[in-house]
Amino acid sequence: MNTTGLAVLGSTGSIGRQTLDVVRSNPGRFHIAALSARANVALLLEQINEFQPELAVVGDETAAAELRQAVGGRLRVESGRGGLCAAASLEGVHTVVDAVVGFEGLFPALAAISSGKDLALANKESLAAGGPLLREALAHSSSELFPVDSEHSSIYQCLNRRGRPESVRRVFLTASGGPFLHLPLEQFADVRPEDAIRHPRWNMGPKISVDSATLMNKGLEVIEASMLFQLPGEKIHVLIHPESVVHGLVEYDEGTQLAALFSTDMRVPIAYALKCASSSGSAVSLSSGVSFLDLAAQGTLHFFAPDMKRFPALALCYQALEEGGTAPAVLNAANEIAVENFLHRQLPFSAIVQVVERTLQVHEVRKIKCIEDVISTDAEARACASKLCEEYVSEIV
Ligand SMILES: NC(=O)c1ccc[n+]([C@@H]2O[C@H](COP(=O)([O-])OP(=O)(O)OC[C@H]3O[C@@H](n4cnc5c(N)ncnc54)[C@H](OP(=O)(O)O)[C@@H]3O)[C@@H](O)[C@H]2O)c1
Repeated sequence: MNTTGLAVLGSTGSIGRQTLDVVRSNPGRFHIAALSARANVALLLEQINEFQPELAVVGDETAAAELRQAVGGRLRVESGRGGLCAAASLEGVHTVVDAVVGFEGLFPALAAISSGKDLALANKESLAAGGPLLREALAHSSSELFPVDSEHSSIYQCLNRRGRPESVRRVFLTASGGPFLHLPLEQFADVRPEDAIRHPRWNMGPKISVDSATLMNKGLEVIEASMLFQLPGEKIHVLIHPESVVHGLVEYDEGTQLAALFSTDMRVPIAYALKCASSSGSAVSLSSGVSFLDLAAQGTLHFFAPDMKRFPALALCYQALEEGGTAPAVLNAANEIAVENFLHRQLPFSAIVQVVERTLQVHEVRKIKCIEDVISTDAEARACASKLCEEYVSEIV
Protein backbone atom coordinates (compact mmCIF):
# COMPACT_ATOMS: atom_id res chain seq x y z
CA MET A 1 0.00 0.00 0.00
CA ASN A 2 1.24 3.51 -0.85
CA THR A 3 1.75 5.79 2.12
CA THR A 4 -0.11 9.11 2.17
CA GLY A 5 2.08 12.19 2.54
CA LEU A 6 0.91 14.54 5.29
CA ALA A 7 1.79 18.09 6.27
CA VAL A 8 0.74 18.53 9.90
CA LEU A 9 0.60 22.24 10.61
CA GLY A 10 0.38 23.20 14.26
CA SER A 11 1.89 19.81 15.12
CA THR A 12 2.90 20.85 18.65
CA GLY A 13 -0.68 21.80 19.62
CA SER A 14 -3.53 19.69 20.92
CA ILE A 15 -4.94 18.70 17.49
CA GLY A 16 -1.47 18.40 15.95
CA ARG A 17 -0.25 16.02 18.66
CA GLN A 18 -3.43 13.94 18.39
CA THR A 19 -2.99 13.77 14.60
CA LEU A 20 0.48 12.34 15.12
CA ASP A 21 -1.06 9.82 17.55
CA VAL A 22 -3.43 8.67 14.81
CA VAL A 23 -0.43 8.34 12.46
CA ARG A 24 1.33 6.20 15.10
CA SER A 25 -1.78 4.01 15.40
CA ASN A 26 -1.64 3.22 11.67
CA PRO A 27 1.93 2.20 10.88
CA GLY A 28 2.81 2.20 7.19
CA ARG A 29 -0.25 4.28 6.18
CA PHE A 30 1.22 7.79 6.33
CA HIS A 31 4.51 9.56 6.04
CA ILE A 32 5.05 13.02 7.50
CA ALA A 33 6.51 15.39 4.92
CA ALA A 34 6.16 18.62 6.90
CA LEU A 35 5.58 19.73 10.49
CA SER A 36 5.09 23.16 12.00
CA ALA A 37 5.03 24.99 15.32
CA ARG A 38 5.11 28.64 16.30
CA ALA A 39 7.61 28.71 19.18
CA ASN A 40 7.77 25.26 20.79
CA VAL A 41 11.07 24.29 19.16
CA ALA A 42 11.83 21.59 21.78
CA LEU A 43 8.69 19.54 21.03
CA LEU A 44 8.99 20.17 17.29
CA LEU A 45 12.53 18.79 17.43
CA GLU A 46 11.28 15.61 19.15
CA GLN A 47 8.65 15.23 16.42
CA ILE A 48 11.26 15.80 13.71
CA ASN A 49 13.47 13.09 15.19
CA GLU A 50 10.56 10.65 15.27
CA PHE A 51 8.91 11.41 11.90
CA GLN A 52 11.83 12.65 9.75
CA PRO A 53 9.96 15.29 7.69
CA GLU A 54 11.69 17.09 4.84
CA LEU A 55 10.41 20.53 5.92
CA ALA A 56 9.80 22.11 9.32
CA VAL A 57 8.24 25.53 9.83
CA VAL A 58 8.34 27.80 12.87
CA GLY A 59 6.77 31.17 13.68
CA ASP A 60 9.70 33.51 13.08
CA GLU A 61 13.35 33.69 12.05
CA THR A 62 14.61 33.60 15.66
CA ALA A 63 12.95 30.22 16.23
CA ALA A 64 14.11 29.12 12.75
CA ALA A 65 17.75 29.93 13.60
CA GLU A 66 17.47 27.90 16.83
CA LEU A 67 15.92 24.95 14.96
CA ARG A 68 18.46 25.09 12.09
CA GLN A 69 21.27 24.90 14.60
CA ALA A 70 19.66 21.90 16.29
CA VAL A 71 18.97 19.93 13.08
CA GLY A 72 22.27 20.82 11.42
CA GLY A 73 21.13 20.76 7.77
CA ARG A 74 19.19 17.48 8.03
CA LEU A 75 16.05 19.16 6.67
CA ARG A 76 14.75 22.44 5.32
CA VAL A 77 13.60 24.95 7.94
CA GLU A 78 11.30 27.85 7.03
CA SER A 79 9.39 30.43 9.05
CA GLY A 80 6.23 32.52 9.17
CA ARG A 81 3.31 32.67 6.79
CA GLY A 82 5.48 31.90 3.74
CA GLY A 83 6.83 28.80 5.47
CA LEU A 84 3.34 27.53 6.33
CA CYS A 85 2.23 28.03 2.71
CA ALA A 86 5.38 26.25 1.44
CA ALA A 87 4.56 23.28 3.70
CA ALA A 88 0.92 23.28 2.56
CA SER A 89 1.93 23.12 -1.11
CA LEU A 90 4.97 20.84 -0.76
CA GLU A 91 5.38 18.18 -3.44
CA GLY A 92 4.81 14.77 -1.90
CA VAL A 93 2.12 16.09 0.42
CA HIS A 94 -1.29 14.63 -0.34
CA THR A 95 -3.21 15.94 2.68
CA VAL A 96 -2.66 19.04 4.77
CA VAL A 97 -3.85 18.94 8.37
CA ASP A 98 -4.40 22.57 9.30
CA ALA A 99 -4.28 22.58 13.11
CA VAL A 100 -2.78 26.05 13.47
CA VAL A 101 -4.77 28.18 15.91
CA GLY A 102 -6.16 31.55 14.81
CA PHE A 103 -6.31 33.67 11.68
CA GLU A 104 -2.86 32.57 10.50
CA GLY A 105 -4.40 29.17 9.63
CA LEU A 106 -6.24 30.74 6.70
CA PHE A 107 -3.10 31.11 4.58
CA PRO A 108 -1.92 27.49 4.50
CA ALA A 109 -5.57 26.43 3.99
CA LEU A 110 -5.76 28.56 0.84
CA ALA A 111 -2.30 27.39 -0.28
CA ALA A 112 -3.30 23.73 0.18
CA ILE A 113 -6.45 24.18 -1.90
CA SER A 114 -4.75 26.12 -4.65
CA SER A 115 -2.11 23.42 -5.00
CA GLY A 116 -4.74 20.65 -5.15
CA LYS A 117 -4.00 19.06 -1.77
CA ASP A 118 -6.78 17.60 0.34
CA LEU A 119 -7.38 19.62 3.46
CA ALA A 120 -8.25 18.21 6.89
CA LEU A 121 -9.32 21.46 8.49
CA ALA A 122 -9.36 21.93 12.26
CA ASN A 123 -8.70 25.68 12.10
CA LYS A 124 -12.17 27.22 12.37
CA GLU A 125 -10.91 30.81 12.43
CA SER A 126 -10.00 30.50 8.74
CA LEU A 127 -13.62 29.70 7.86
CA ALA A 128 -14.89 32.55 10.04
CA ALA A 129 -12.47 35.08 8.55
CA GLY A 130 -12.23 33.87 4.98
CA GLY A 131 -15.01 31.32 4.43
CA PRO A 132 -16.18 32.75 1.08
CA LEU A 133 -12.59 32.76 -0.23
CA LEU A 134 -12.06 29.15 0.83
CA ARG A 135 -15.30 28.13 -0.88
CA GLU A 136 -14.35 29.99 -4.04
CA ALA A 137 -10.89 28.36 -4.02
CA LEU A 138 -12.45 24.89 -3.55
CA ALA A 139 -14.76 25.46 -6.50
CA HIS A 140 -11.71 25.91 -8.74
CA SER A 141 -9.60 23.08 -7.34
CA SER A 142 -9.46 19.29 -7.30
CA SER A 143 -8.84 19.58 -3.57
CA GLU A 144 -11.38 18.30 -1.04
CA LEU A 145 -12.02 19.70 2.41
CA PHE A 146 -12.71 17.32 5.28
CA PRO A 147 -13.82 18.90 8.56
CA VAL A 148 -11.95 17.89 11.70
CA ASP A 149 -14.09 19.72 14.26
CA SER A 150 -16.14 16.98 15.98
CA GLU A 151 -19.56 18.57 15.31
CA HIS A 152 -18.80 19.26 11.65
CA SER A 153 -17.29 15.85 11.12
CA SER A 154 -20.53 14.41 12.52
CA ILE A 155 -22.74 16.49 10.26
CA TYR A 156 -20.50 15.69 7.29
CA GLN A 157 -20.83 11.97 8.06
CA CYS A 158 -24.64 12.20 8.42
CA LEU A 159 -24.96 14.16 5.18
CA ASN A 160 -22.82 11.55 3.42
CA ARG A 161 -25.25 8.82 4.49
CA ARG A 162 -28.46 10.39 3.30
CA GLY A 163 -27.20 12.92 0.81
CA ARG A 164 -28.23 16.44 1.18
CA PRO A 165 -29.40 19.55 0.64
CA GLU A 166 -33.01 20.30 -0.19
CA SER A 167 -34.39 17.84 2.32
CA VAL A 168 -32.19 19.07 5.19
CA ARG A 169 -34.45 20.98 7.53
CA ARG A 170 -31.97 21.81 10.29
CA VAL A 171 -28.55 20.78 11.57
CA PHE A 172 -27.63 20.72 15.26
CA LEU A 173 -24.22 21.35 16.77
CA THR A 174 -23.92 20.06 20.30
CA ALA A 175 -21.99 21.91 23.00
CA SER A 176 -20.84 20.66 26.37
CA GLY A 177 -21.62 24.12 27.74
CA GLY A 178 -18.05 24.62 28.94
CA PRO A 179 -16.83 25.04 32.53
CA PHE A 180 -19.33 27.80 33.42
CA LEU A 181 -22.53 26.16 32.26
CA HIS A 182 -24.11 26.64 35.69
CA LEU A 183 -22.07 29.63 36.97
CA PRO A 184 -24.28 32.58 38.01
CA LEU A 185 -23.90 35.56 35.67
CA GLU A 186 -22.67 37.87 38.46
CA GLN A 187 -19.63 35.62 38.99
CA PHE A 188 -18.45 35.83 35.37
CA ALA A 189 -16.37 38.95 36.09
CA ASP A 190 -14.19 37.00 38.57
CA VAL A 191 -13.31 34.12 36.26
CA ARG A 192 -9.52 33.61 36.00
CA PRO A 193 -7.65 32.18 32.96
CA GLU A 194 -6.82 28.99 34.88
CA ASP A 195 -10.56 28.45 35.53
CA ALA A 196 -11.53 29.15 31.93
CA ILE A 197 -9.03 26.74 30.39
CA ARG A 198 -10.13 23.84 32.63
CA HIS A 199 -12.69 22.33 30.27
CA PRO A 200 -14.91 19.60 31.75
CA ARG A 201 -14.85 17.32 28.67
CA TRP A 202 -12.12 18.22 26.19
CA ASN A 203 -8.41 18.78 26.63
CA MET A 204 -7.67 21.60 24.17
CA GLY A 205 -5.36 24.54 23.51
CA PRO A 206 -5.85 27.71 25.61
CA LYS A 207 -7.59 29.86 22.97
CA ILE A 208 -10.31 27.36 22.07
CA SER A 209 -10.75 26.53 25.77
CA VAL A 210 -11.56 30.18 26.52
CA ASP A 211 -13.81 30.28 23.45
CA SER A 212 -15.64 27.24 24.81
CA ALA A 213 -16.11 28.96 28.16
CA THR A 214 -17.74 32.04 26.52
CA LEU A 215 -19.55 29.84 23.94
CA MET A 216 -17.82 31.93 21.27
CA ASN A 217 -16.42 28.60 20.10
CA LYS A 218 -19.94 27.34 19.40
CA GLY A 219 -20.76 30.61 17.64
CA LEU A 220 -17.65 30.29 15.47
CA GLU A 221 -18.79 26.74 14.74
CA VAL A 222 -22.18 28.04 13.59
CA ILE A 223 -20.31 30.23 11.07
CA GLU A 224 -18.05 27.28 10.21
CA ALA A 225 -21.10 25.06 9.55
CA SER A 226 -22.68 27.73 7.38
CA MET A 227 -19.51 28.00 5.27
CA LEU A 228 -18.88 24.24 5.08
CA PHE A 229 -22.41 23.07 4.33
CA GLN A 230 -23.73 26.23 2.69
CA LEU A 231 -26.62 26.59 5.11
CA PRO A 232 -28.16 29.83 6.39
CA GLY A 233 -27.90 30.63 10.12
CA GLU A 234 -31.56 29.85 10.77
CA LYS A 235 -30.98 26.21 9.79
CA ILE A 236 -28.08 25.81 12.22
CA HIS A 237 -29.02 25.16 15.84
CA VAL A 238 -27.06 24.65 19.03
CA LEU A 239 -27.96 22.07 21.66
CA ILE A 240 -26.28 21.95 25.05
CA HIS A 241 -25.31 18.35 25.72
CA PRO A 242 -23.00 18.14 28.76
CA GLU A 243 -21.93 14.51 28.18
CA SER A 244 -20.45 15.32 24.70
CA VAL A 245 -21.34 11.91 23.27
CA VAL A 246 -23.62 13.03 20.44
CA HIS A 247 -21.62 15.56 18.42
CA GLY A 248 -23.87 16.65 15.58
CA LEU A 249 -27.28 15.90 14.10
CA VAL A 250 -28.99 16.43 10.78
CA GLU A 251 -32.78 16.69 10.58
CA TYR A 252 -34.60 15.83 7.36
CA ASP A 253 -37.93 17.13 6.14
CA GLU A 254 -39.95 14.03 6.91
CA GLY A 255 -38.81 14.09 10.56
CA THR A 256 -35.77 11.80 10.73
CA GLN A 257 -32.78 13.00 12.74
CA LEU A 258 -29.43 11.36 12.02
CA ALA A 259 -26.71 11.77 14.63
CA ALA A 260 -23.07 10.78 14.98
CA LEU A 261 -21.90 9.52 18.38
CA PHE A 262 -18.36 8.82 19.48
CA SER A 263 -16.09 8.97 22.52
CA THR A 264 -15.07 12.45 23.63
CA ASP A 265 -11.73 12.25 21.88
CA MET A 266 -10.64 14.32 18.88
CA ARG A 267 -8.63 11.42 17.45
CA VAL A 268 -11.94 9.98 16.15
CA PRO A 269 -12.82 12.89 13.81
CA ILE A 270 -9.13 13.34 12.95
CA ALA A 271 -8.95 9.68 11.90
CA TYR A 272 -12.17 10.03 9.89
CA ALA A 273 -10.82 13.07 8.01
CA LEU A 274 -7.53 11.27 7.30
CA LYS A 275 -9.39 8.16 6.18
CA CYS A 276 -11.53 10.17 3.75
CA ALA A 277 -8.55 12.09 2.45
CA SER A 278 -6.28 9.09 1.98
CA SER A 279 -8.78 6.56 0.61
CA SER A 280 -10.19 8.54 -2.35
CA GLY A 281 -13.56 6.90 -1.78
CA SER A 282 -12.33 3.33 -1.41
CA ALA A 283 -13.34 1.42 1.71
CA VAL A 284 -10.21 1.32 3.82
CA SER A 285 -10.20 1.12 7.57
CA LEU A 286 -8.19 3.36 9.79
CA SER A 287 -7.75 3.13 13.53
CA SER A 288 -8.20 6.18 15.75
CA GLY A 289 -6.64 4.33 18.69
CA VAL A 290 -9.64 5.42 20.80
CA SER A 291 -11.76 3.05 22.90
CA PHE A 292 -15.24 2.47 21.54
CA LEU A 293 -18.24 4.19 23.06
CA ASP A 294 -20.11 2.14 25.67
CA LEU A 295 -23.64 3.55 25.72
CA ALA A 296 -24.85 1.17 28.43
CA ALA A 297 -22.11 2.43 30.72
CA GLN A 298 -22.93 6.00 29.70
CA GLY A 299 -26.56 5.58 30.77
CA THR A 300 -28.24 8.96 30.54
CA LEU A 301 -27.74 11.75 28.01
CA HIS A 302 -29.05 15.29 28.49
CA PHE A 303 -29.94 17.96 25.94
CA PHE A 304 -31.19 21.52 26.44
CA ALA A 305 -31.29 24.88 24.72
CA PRO A 306 -28.43 27.35 25.30
CA ASP A 307 -28.95 30.35 27.60
CA MET A 308 -28.36 33.24 25.19
CA LYS A 309 -28.50 35.80 28.04
CA ARG A 310 -25.61 34.31 30.00
CA PHE A 311 -23.71 33.48 26.80
CA PRO A 312 -24.24 36.48 24.47
CA ALA A 313 -21.32 35.41 22.24
CA LEU A 314 -23.59 32.94 20.52
CA ALA A 315 -26.11 35.61 19.48
CA LEU A 316 -23.25 37.84 18.31
CA CYS A 317 -21.99 35.09 15.98
CA TYR A 318 -25.46 34.57 14.47
CA GLN A 319 -25.63 38.35 13.96
CA ALA A 320 -22.22 38.48 12.23
CA LEU A 321 -23.19 35.54 10.02
CA GLU A 322 -26.42 37.29 9.05
CA GLU A 323 -24.57 40.56 8.28
CA GLY A 324 -22.09 38.61 6.15
CA GLY A 325 -19.23 40.24 4.21
CA THR A 326 -16.47 41.36 6.55
CA ALA A 327 -18.53 40.97 9.77
CA PRO A 328 -17.43 37.40 10.67
CA ALA A 329 -13.76 38.34 10.03
CA VAL A 330 -14.15 41.32 12.39
CA LEU A 331 -15.77 39.17 15.05
CA ASN A 332 -12.99 36.61 14.76
CA ALA A 333 -10.15 39.15 14.95
CA ALA A 334 -11.69 41.05 17.89
CA ASN A 335 -12.22 37.77 19.72
CA GLU A 336 -8.60 36.68 19.18
CA ILE A 337 -7.39 39.97 20.66
CA ALA A 338 -9.81 39.92 23.59
CA VAL A 339 -8.98 36.28 24.46
CA GLU A 340 -5.24 37.01 24.30
CA ASN A 341 -5.72 39.97 26.66
CA PHE A 342 -7.79 37.82 29.02
CA LEU A 343 -5.17 35.06 29.01
CA HIS A 344 -2.53 37.71 29.90
CA ARG A 345 -4.79 38.89 32.75
CA GLN A 346 -5.31 42.23 31.04
CA LEU A 347 -9.06 41.93 30.51
CA PRO A 348 -11.82 40.45 32.66
CA PHE A 349 -13.55 37.35 31.32
CA SER A 350 -16.91 39.13 31.13
CA ALA A 351 -15.40 41.86 28.93
CA ILE A 352 -14.32 39.49 26.14
CA VAL A 353 -17.72 39.50 24.47
CA GLN A 354 -18.16 43.25 25.12
CA VAL A 355 -14.94 44.00 23.22
CA VAL A 356 -16.12 41.85 20.31
CA GLU A 357 -19.55 43.48 20.31
CA ARG A 358 -18.15 47.04 20.36
CA THR A 359 -15.64 46.24 17.60
CA LEU A 360 -18.50 44.95 15.45
CA GLN A 361 -20.60 48.04 16.23
CA VAL A 362 -17.99 50.49 14.91
CA HIS A 363 -17.21 48.42 11.82
CA GLU A 364 -18.84 49.22 8.53
CA VAL A 365 -19.51 45.90 6.84
CA ARG A 366 -18.04 45.51 3.35
CA LYS A 367 -18.01 42.72 0.78
CA ILE A 368 -15.01 40.38 0.70
CA LYS A 369 -13.63 40.17 -2.82
CA CYS A 370 -10.07 39.02 -2.29
CA ILE A 371 -7.55 38.00 0.36
CA GLU A 372 -6.34 41.62 0.71
CA ASP A 373 -9.86 42.55 1.90
CA VAL A 374 -9.63 39.91 4.62
CA ILE A 375 -6.11 40.94 5.65
CA SER A 376 -7.01 44.64 5.93
CA THR A 377 -10.27 43.89 7.77
CA ASP A 378 -8.45 41.63 10.20
CA ALA A 379 -5.79 44.29 10.89
CA GLU A 380 -8.39 47.03 11.33
CA ALA A 381 -10.47 44.94 13.74
CA ARG A 382 -7.38 43.93 15.74
CA ALA A 383 -6.35 47.58 16.13
CA CYS A 384 -9.85 48.56 17.23
CA ALA A 385 -10.19 45.67 19.68
CA SER A 386 -6.71 46.33 21.16
CA LYS A 387 -7.69 49.96 21.77
CA LEU A 388 -10.94 48.86 23.41
CA CYS A 389 -9.03 46.46 25.68
CA GLU A 390 -6.70 49.29 26.75
CA GLU A 391 -9.64 51.62 27.39
CA TYR A 392 -11.37 48.92 29.37
CA VAL A 393 -8.36 48.48 31.62
CA SER A 394 -7.81 52.24 32.12
CA GLU A 395 -11.51 52.60 33.02
CA ILE A 396 -11.34 50.00 35.79
CA VAL A 397 -7.88 50.93 37.18
N1 LIG B 1 -8.14 21.22 20.56
C1 LIG B 1 -9.31 20.75 20.13
O1 LIG B 1 -9.86 19.80 20.71
C2 LIG B 1 -9.97 21.35 18.93
C3 LIG B 1 -11.20 20.84 18.49
C4 LIG B 1 -11.77 21.35 17.33
C5 LIG B 1 -11.16 22.37 16.63
N2 LIG B 1 -9.98 22.88 17.08
C6 LIG B 1 -9.36 23.97 16.34
O2 LIG B 1 -8.08 23.54 15.93
C7 LIG B 1 -7.15 24.64 15.93
C8 LIG B 1 -5.98 24.28 16.84
O3 LIG B 1 -6.46 24.16 18.17
P1 LIG B 1 -5.54 23.54 19.32
O4 LIG B 1 -6.42 23.38 20.51
O5 LIG B 1 -4.79 22.37 18.80
O6 LIG B 1 -4.54 24.76 19.58
P2 LIG B 1 -3.14 24.75 20.36
O7 LIG B 1 -3.05 23.57 21.25
O8 LIG B 1 -2.97 26.10 20.94
O9 LIG B 1 -2.08 24.54 19.17
C9 LIG B 1 -1.91 25.48 18.16
C10 LIG B 1 -0.80 25.09 17.23
O10 LIG B 1 -0.59 26.16 16.30
C11 LIG B 1 0.72 26.74 16.48
N3 LIG B 1 0.57 28.18 16.35
C12 LIG B 1 0.05 29.04 17.25
N4 LIG B 1 0.04 30.30 16.76
C13 LIG B 1 0.58 30.23 15.51
C14 LIG B 1 0.88 31.18 14.52
N5 LIG B 1 0.60 32.48 14.68
N6 LIG B 1 1.46 30.75 13.36
C15 LIG B 1 1.73 29.44 13.18
N7 LIG B 1 1.48 28.49 14.10
C16 LIG B 1 0.91 28.87 15.25
C17 LIG B 1 1.16 26.30 17.87
O11 LIG B 1 2.59 26.29 17.97
P3 LIG B 1 3.31 26.40 19.44
O12 LIG B 1 2.98 25.12 20.14
O13 LIG B 1 4.75 26.53 19.12
O14 LIG B 1 2.73 27.60 20.11
C18 LIG B 1 0.55 24.89 17.92
O15 LIG B 1 1.33 24.00 17.17
C19 LIG B 1 -7.95 25.85 16.42
O16 LIG B 1 -8.42 26.58 15.32
C20 LIG B 1 -9.13 25.23 17.16
O17 LIG B 1 -10.28 26.06 17.16
C21 LIG B 1 -9.38 22.39 18.20
